[in-house]
Amino acid sequence: MDHNRKLYIETVGCQMNMLDSELVVAALRRHGYELTSDVQEADTVLFNTCSVREHAEHKIYSQLGRLKYSKRRRPKQVIGVLGCMAQKDQELIFQRAPHVDLVVGTGQLSEVPRMIDEARAGSRRAVAVSLSRKEGTRSEVSESFQSYDPLREPAMRPSPFQAFVRIMIGCDKFCTYCVVPMTRGPEQSRPPADIAAEVRVLAEQGVKEITLLGQTVNSYKYTENGSLVRLSELLARIHDTPGIDRIKFVTNYPRDMTDDLLFAVRDLPKVGRYLHVPAQSGSNDVLKIMKRGYTVEQYLEMHDRIREVMRDCAVSSDFIVGHPGETEAEFEKSIDLVRRCRFKNSFIFKYSPRPGTKAFDNYPDDIPEDVKRRRNNVLLDIQNAISEEDNASFIGREVEVLVEGPSKSSRKADEEPSANGPIQLVGRTPCDRIVVFDGNPRLAGTLTNVAVFDCTQTTLIGSIVTREVQHGSGSLLPILA
Ligand code: 5AD
Ligand code: SF4
Repeated sequence: MDHNRKLYIETVGCQMNMLDSELVVAALRRHGYELTSDVQEADTVLFNTCSVREHAEHKIYSQLGRLKYSKRRRPKQVIGVLGCMAQKDQELIFQRAPHVDLVVGTGQLSEVPRMIDEARAGSRRAVAVSLSRKEGTRSEVSESFQSYDPLREPAMRPSPFQAFVRIMIGCDKFCTYCVVPMTRGPEQSRPPADIAAEVRVLAEQGVKEITLLGQTVNSYKYTENGSLVRLSELLARIHDTPGIDRIKFVTNYPRDMTDDLLFAVRDLPKVGRYLHVPAQSGSNDVLKIMKRGYTVEQYLEMHDRIREVMRDCAVSSDFIVGHPGETEAEFEKSIDLVRRCRFKNSFIFKYSPRPGTKAFDNYPDDIPEDVKRRRNNVLLDIQNAISEEDNASFIGREVEVLVEGPSKSSRKADEEPSANGPIQLVGRTPCDRIVVFDGNPRLAGTLTNVAVFDCTQTTLIGSIVTREVQHGSGSLLPILA
């Protein structure tokens, strides 16, 4: 066991990566490591990486480039690249960054402690990755992507009260632009009993909000004693875990948004009425080239069904603009879809060609960067205006907020010794809207009612509602604090 080793870890990408980093840190802490935010004093430097867009990879490569000099000064420093880029680029990483010691794919993260020890003992350029999707049978490839979930590390969570729980790994949808089926391997759902046990452990550690994770989380399916457990059933099974106040799940795939799931969201009070269901495009021609597996009409049918079951359910989306061959008219159909669905918010991405994908092999990246940028800005402006109108409809209403803690701005103010006065807190509504309000930091981790009096495109602004029992009548009188 190493004592007082210092670990610096940087994580980019999705929530799945944040969870993976939490688990790697938990394992390394058991090996005597402690975290540092100073890369200079670290004896182990890890990057947990993302390959979804080229930009994310460039950033990591330039960070790695900078480490070349610190490694010269400290030859014992171990540098590791983990996650999606490791699985995708493998040995290529050593060509571009010769001072890297280990490359560990998404399916081998349990090997990290051992590989760091070996690197420190002098072994060079170790690689642990899973089979590529064509290198074996489905079960061989699946087995080479190990699920990695048992250990947890509270210090790495978004907040002490919120935790991610993986319910499945991988993806089998093979959208033509997307690298995830390669970097995360075949779709595999975890046994419901394991998931329920993990939720119980987290609840005992003080977690109030669970976010179930899967690349296509609503495709979850697990056969147990001959019968199929789907996400709706899984939600019902974990719903009554003592201590858990809220349950969310991301990311959904439009075609798997079945009625049983919508009814579960409607009927289980702890499940937030919030569905992230990426549409990607509003054009049938583009959706077809993307091989998304649905038409705009089918997406709209699904969206109408959500609204029919829960009028107040927030729906958010992802869009890709500038996909190869996307005409102006096709782009405008994405605008139409945003206007029609009035998403709570949308994440909008410029198409990024990814080696190893069908789109990369078959379609030239023919939309100029300035056109992609313009389309991105136009769609974002339209979405932001809708988000603000939507948020404005909350003004004058009361919302239930799970308090996460001091907001970013009050955390900054706190660093200045002269700062005093009320503290701004941040939290979220059950429909995933961000709320800021003044209050006592000790409210963190509680459910609190907030009256909304203002908003921005991204945030509701309010004040805590305190209730007083009126003598005689016994009724509750809301008083705005
Ligand atoms: N280029 C741009 N955006 C992409 N996404 C996935 N692959 C690409 C790509 N090659 C986006 C999709 C997905 C989100 C996580 O990233 O919108 O929903
Ligand atoms: Fe990528 Fe499509 Fe799978 Fe989402 S559903 S992870 S976009 S391949």
